[in-house]
Amino acid sequence: MLLFQKLYSRIYKYSKMLFLLQIIVIVLTFISLDHEAIAELPYTSVVLPVHKHTDASKPLYSAEVMTSFIDWQYMRENFLIDIDATIIWHDCSLLWNKNQGDCPTNSCNYPVTCEEYPCTDIRTSSSYKNRYCPPKTNWSTLPVWGLCTCPVNVVNPVTVSCVQVSLNYDNFRFNESNGRNVYTGWDDVYPHAACAPSSSLQSFPANVTGVLALSSSPYALAGYLHKPLKRVLGLCLPSTLSTPGVLFYGSTPYYLLPHSDVDVRSYLSYTPLIKHQNSFGYFIGVNSIVIKKRAVNIPTNATTKISTTEPYTILRTDIYNPVVRRFLKVTKRIPPAKPFPPFGVCFSTSTKGTQVGLRVPDIEFSFPDGKQWTTSTANSIKQVTKDVACLALVDGGAASEPAIIIGTFQMEDNFLVLDLEKSAFGFSSSLLRKKTSCSNFNLTLVNSYV
Ligand SMILES: *[C@@H]1O[C@H](CO)[C@@H](O)[C@H](O)[C@H]1NC(C)=O
Ligand SMILES: *[C@@H]1O[C@H](CO)[C@@H](O)[C@H](O)[C@H]1NC(C)=O
Ligand SMILES: *[C@@H]1O[C@H](CO)[C@@H](O)[C@H](O)[C@H]1NC(C)=O
Ligand SMILES: *[C@@H]1O[C@H](CO)[C@@H](O)[C@H](O)[C@H]1NC(C)=O
Ligand SMILES: *[C@@H]1O[C@H](CO)[C@@H](O)[C@H](O)[C@H]1NC(C)=O
Repeated sequence: MLLFQKLYSRIYKYSKMLFLLQIIVIVLTFISLDHEAIAELPYTSVVLPVHKHTDASKPLYSAEVMTSFIDWQYMRENFLIDIDATIIWHDCSLLWNKNQGDCPTNSCNYPVTCEEYPCTDIRTSSSYKNRYCPPKTNWSTLPVWGLCTCPVNVVNPVTVSCVQVSLNYDNFRFNESNGRNVYTGWDDVYPHAACAPSSSLQSFPANVTGVLALSSSPYALAGYLHKPLKRVLGLCLPSTLSTPGVLFYGSTPYYLLPHSDVDVRSYLSYTPLIKHQNSFGYFIGVNSIVIKKRAVNIPTNATTKISTTEPYTILRTDIYNPVVRRFLKVTKRIPPAKPFPPFGVCFSTSTKGTQVGLRVPDIEFSFPDGKQWTTSTANSIKQVTKDVACLALVDGGAASEPAIIIGTFQMEDNFLVLDLEKSAFGFSSSLLRKKTSCSNFNLTLVNSYV
């Protein structure tokens, strides 16, 4: 009996110990899991440096992507930022019989044949909305069979002409970010992109070799992001050539120096994005344009589009005229200058030989819910010569469609968010008023995988 009791108490003790051990193991597992989760995902987004280019027919902006893996490192290429484009396309050539892992020149891609589903879908479905470059045929299969590379029409955003490109399976790599720093990236995307002959990129700025499609099309970049990354584009276009701006994809905070403790999202106001049946671009509803408390109402038939390839904001004549009248009224004291195309309203910025910096009243784009996107002098007045500065608005003509196109001059040093998850457009208004700019993201690389 004694023996039994001893044994029992031993077993009891032992099981208690086991239980304790189990708890310790569970706790340890949780700690290590938690630790691993943090170690594996130090980022909330992918991040791309953004460059401004002024050596083409209009100012343009590019984002730096990593393309082919050559000589043990990724090639970095600049692709034009185009929030209208439906597919990514770039300067490359397709090779049919290539060895796996072997990327001669810039051709880390594989052809999509005419018979494959993505070819048919991109060419013929409603996803292929393209006002300028409709497909030559709506047939689901092409007349050519065999080794046929899928031909797709895209718009050259510089010349606004059609280019025929060949669809392929592509691979790009991005660095990652937690909103504060850049981490060495292993973030690969495998989009259906397309190859274009070098000749079709002649109009592009120097060192720009492709088009980065950032529209809401399922075939634009957002459609290929890894699962934890949200389809939320944070875009901050720089005003200078010397220091890059920044582009993010993901649900992430954004920090701009020197305010290392201010999440830029706290500066943002939001207005809904509006669907447009013939476009994958981004549209918003502007109710009125307000200058010094006086509103110019926007007709209900007017749609407003945001563009990363139009340099200046374009207004249909019936909107342009009253806006300009109001603007001239509140700037009466500034000496005028002759119009400087494409601008109709210009000012002299030198009095008796000394240059003066203009300061003009804000122009506010007002949305149905009362939110206002404030455009201050840096985004409304463009210095065109040493002595002349102009109101950076362009008369689009009586039939201009869309009636308002918001151009990039108005967007520089403003933080913008195109949120496809919530279908919302976020804007900060000028970051200069917050004593920072789009060129203030800390692009210093941090190696996260030590
Ligand atoms: C293809 O279909 C679209 C929409 O149905 C139509 O507008 C277009 O004219 C068609 N194109 C051709 C070449 O048949
Ligand atoms: C990404 O990180 C690598 C270092 O791993 C760096 O060399 C490269 O310049 C970065 N790429 C971009 C586009 O910033
Ligand atoms: C193009 O890239 C080359 C090499 O990276 C550089 O030396 C040159 O300054 C760049 N040109 C322009 C216009 O950015
Ligand atoms: C839009 O409405 C305005 C007046 O509200 C009218 O003058 C203009 O012709 C219309 N434009 C279009 C493209 O329907
Ligand atoms: C940028 O980030 C790096 C890495 O975290 C940090 O060492 C550096 O101090 C930051 N730069 C500024 C100006 O804060």
